[in-house]
Amino acid sequence: MLLQNKVIVITGGAGLIGRSISQAIIQQGGTVVIADISEELGLKVQTEIDPTRSRSLFVTMDITSQANITQTIEKIHQHYGRIDALVNNAYPRTKNWGKNNFYHFDFEDFCENMRLQLGGYVLTSQQFALYFKNQGFGNIVSMSSIMGVYAPKFENYEGTDMDSVIDYSIIKAGINHMTRWMAKYLANTGIRVNAIAPGGIYNQAHPQPQSFLEKYRKCCTSKGMMNPDDLNGTLIYLLSDMSACVNGQILVVDDGWGL
Ligand SMILES: NC(=O)c1ccc[n+]([C@@H]2O[C@H](COP(=O)([O-])OP(=O)(O)OC[C@H]3O[C@@H](n4cnc5c(N)ncnc54)[C@H](O)[C@@H]3O)[C@@H](O)[C@H]2O)c1
Repeated sequence: MLLQNKVIVITGGAGLIGRSISQAIIQQGGTVVIADISEELGLKVQTEIDPTRSRSLFVTMDITSQANITQTIEKIHQHYGRIDALVNNAYPRTKNWGKNNFYHFDFEDFCENMRLQLGGYVLTSQQFALYFKNQGFGNIVSMSSIMGVYAPKFENYEGTDMDSVIDYSIIKAGINHMTRWMAKYLANTGIRVNAIAPGGIYNQAHPQPQSFLEKYRKCCTSKGMMNPDDLNGTLIYLLSDMSACVNGQILVVDDGWGL
């Protein structure tokens, strides 16, 4: 029970990775606040992972709205009287997301994804940092990606309709550096800031093409694409006091993909 008595907010808590982390937080004795823009999905996930709703709270939250984030923090504070950690994990994207070919670039779409994904993580972190500073302690963990650490292996996408767009690499590299910047800026406030950079997650509901999975597997050292649960150990560690002296770090969890 590494998260006993801790109140942890996870944005995008109703998604593929968010659901798994939320469940792991409860299993480790913590209380999870599922903060998601989709009330329908959020309440469904809450019912599945915590049927009695005694160890969780669902709040509707949009990581791109300052007013909404402030109200959400206030609501959580009224409910629990404290917030121990924020996990930045939401994944807002435009309709055109993933299709921004480098040679035929839609600049407006690129800017909108920067605003939603990178801007949203900065804004949410900033708003929670204000609360944490006042409280005297806090912990921020952001979901980055190997794409923010390494260049893509473009050859793995050949023959599929998948791509690795420059937007994503820049957004995730930005989140990595936001992490280091904030860790240093918030020195001596009781707040620490880290990130996790996962490799690809196998999506059971919408499986990636077989040829991609096989090429991806050859880049890895044991299993290839991971399950959302494969991230839980690292996340729980970063959220727990076991990592009290870990600050400003980007922990890569990728089954050796980057080697
Ligand atoms: N799936 C992967 O292979 C993978 C790999 C590495 C990193 N990641 C990162 O993990 C994070 C989660 O990814 P996922 O695959 O679980 O995504 P997902 O699409 O399954 O879930 C994202 C969740 O975010 C919510 N959301 C969307 N816009 C929002 C907003 N404005 N405010 C609040 N919530 C919002 C959605 O409703 C959804 O529940 C993302 O940062 C993603 O980049 C994913």
